[in-house]
Amino acid sequence: MCAQQASGAPRSAAARVADLKETLERYNYRYHALDDPQVPDAEYDRLMLELRALEAQYPELAAPDSPTQRVGSVPVAAFGAVRHRVAMLSLDNAFSDDEVRDFDRRIRERLNIPNTIRYSAEPKLDGLAISARYENGVFVQGATRGDGETGEDITLNLRTIKALPLKLRSGAPPVLEVRGEVFMPLAGFAKFNQEALARGEKSFVNPRNAAAGSLRQLDPKMTAARPLDLFIYGLALVEGGELPGQHSETLQALRRWGFKICPQSRVVEGADGCLGYYREIGVQRAELPYQIDGVVYKVDDLEQQRQLGFVSRAPRWAVAHKFPAEEALTTVRDIEFQVGRTGALTPVARLEPVFVGGVTVSNATLHNMDELTRKDVRVGDTVVIRRAGDVIPEVARVLPERRVAGAAMVVLPSVCPVCGSPVVREAEQAVARCSGGRTCAAQRKEEIKHFASRRALDIQGLGDKLVEQLVDREWLRTPADLFSLQAEQLATLERMGDKSAQKLQAAIIAAKHTTLPRFLYALGIRDVGEATALALAQHFGDVAALRAAADEVIQRVPDVGPVVAKHVEAYFRDPENAAIVDRLLGSGITWPALAPANVHTELSGKSFVLTGTLETLTREAAAEAIVQQGGKISGSVSKKTSYVVAGAEPGSKLNKAQTLGIAILDEAEFMKLLKK
Ligand code: IVH
Repeated sequence: MCAQQASGAPRSAAARVADLKETLERYNYRYHALDDPQVPDAEYDRLMLELRALEAQYPELAAPDSPTQRVGSVPVAAFGAVRHRVAMLSLDNAFSDDEVRDFDRRIRERLNIPNTIRYSAEPKLDGLAISARYENGVFVQGATRGDGETGEDITLNLRTIKALPLKLRSGAPPVLEVRGEVFMPLAGFAKFNQEALARGEKSFVNPRNAAAGSLRQLDPKMTAARPLDLFIYGLALVEGGELPGQHSETLQALRRWGFKICPQSRVVEGADGCLGYYREIGVQRAELPYQIDGVVYKVDDLEQQRQLGFVSRAPRWAVAHKFPAEEALTTVRDIEFQVGRTGALTPVARLEPVFVGGVTVSNATLHNMDELTRKDVRVGDTVVIRRAGDVIPEVARVLPERRVAGAAMVVLPSVCPVCGSPVVREAEQAVARCSGGRTCAAQRKEEIKHFASRRALDIQGLGDKLVEQLVDREWLRTPADLFSLQAEQLATLERMGDKSAQKLQAAIIAAKHTTLPRFLYALGIRDVGEATALALAQHFGDVAALRAAADEVIQRVPDVGPVVAKHVEAYFRDPENAAIVDRLLGSGITWPALAPANVHTELSGKSFVLTGTLETLTREAAAEAIVQQGGKISGSVSKKTSYVVAGAEPGSKLNKAQTLGIAILDEAEFMKLLKK
């Protein structure tokens, strides 16, 4: 017989519940705060089920801090108000290096310190600021920023975010209020939008709106279904307990107490350190799994922070250094159709030039007819242009209220704007194509540009403008003609001297030494990108075998489907293509033999991630060498990664590799592995 507690639940059940709660909290901490899972998800789920069952049997054991209690059962009618005990401030912005230097100078003047100030530099997360209060280690209240003085009570919704600890780890002060940012990671955002569209629901404009919309749901179940995450970036209030003297130490303490801290935060020295950090994060930005709109510099020393104090609503000791705006308004002057390598017609908006994402943009892609129709962009429209990182600028959306009367919808042209051949659109395909093939000058130009491009044969100095001139003069018709170009002939082109002509010819000759995957990719076969070219090369080992293969045989190549296989077969069956390939091979294009899939090397089947700068070879050359020996390249670190190759100034991938315990190779070790 079990001893009964006053409440009715046997003591053994109470002990087991306490044990499960403690274990699940620990797993949760390892998973979310440390990004270093201790057990497989299935084990977590199993313990969670056991805890749920016990709590269902003995409801008196289901305390609010139990990990089962993240999703409350009833929606609220409206959010209550929370008066912030410490105001939630905003940050001043800096938009240039000079403004950052001014910020640093003002601080040194105010503090009367000539030496370098230490700053905590952190990404400026693009989400929603929140405040979370803990009493005796238990999460008791969460609030939005509101007007800075009073926010909305979103306790129930915050509870559903797994990165928020419901119970703190030991050592945390008795009363604690922390500040942080709730955001929707980019992958979750993309998936969520895709699913919303599939259900015929509205999608979100950006991850920030998605996070805000998700947090402001009256029904916590809705919030729980959204992929939200949270980083804590500061401490607002502490009662009892010792506090560190530096902001950076505070972040570490917060992490020990169970909070998730942004892994990219770092201490830097002076304005130069700040600006270096800004550039580094700017480069990493495209690879970060979450959206940021700048970085924040905070004076690290808390005593210095106190001396500096505040002006109106912002601290003097911090500044947000923003990235250039990535969205801007402009008007559409015209909509034209560009013809690509495979004849695909891409609608392009010609714009009133506008400064966005750090550059002036005067063209933006509209992708294809379906996109154009969906967005309903018309000539004269006012549109939002978006340019993120190195991505091609695109028309994000139209402002319908600003449409001029009589603006007509754009229709697909029935003939190619370049060569006049009929435009065809296969059933259920978004893409419309010029049917002219190589009779279309645009297709000829694009085919040659692709052949010469960096990831294909990489012909140095053969730029787009030059290819266009050569095709217009009819000196080039197909890539095979490249190898008959003579320096004397090239020297007669506008703005081309004898020296440059010789250099170009030498570059064309040098490009004959290539690799089989590059060669196959360079041919420009429809749907054959670098990955497919590589798979084809590894499977067939040479061009002759691939040329002879029927589509059923080609389909046996990993990741090659029936459609792609048909394109490959059709390419080589076409007599003109066959003649071009013969001429190319006849002109002396060569490549070293590839390690076939059945030959085992040290690298066979291993997955590599590259980060940082290598001294002796470029990233592309390293990737090629890996692939040449049967290895694979991946852009991100996961449990499946075999090796991370870390050069100088490695990015966050190195940290990820360390937390996951992936083997890390420095340049020397990597070169040794290659040479084996
Ligand atoms: S500190 C008193 N740190 O930026 C300092 N804010 O304009 C208060 N934000 O509402 C903020 N990342 O939502 C700080 N690492 C970071 C941040 C950050 C994003 C947001 C926050 C705040 C806004 C200030």
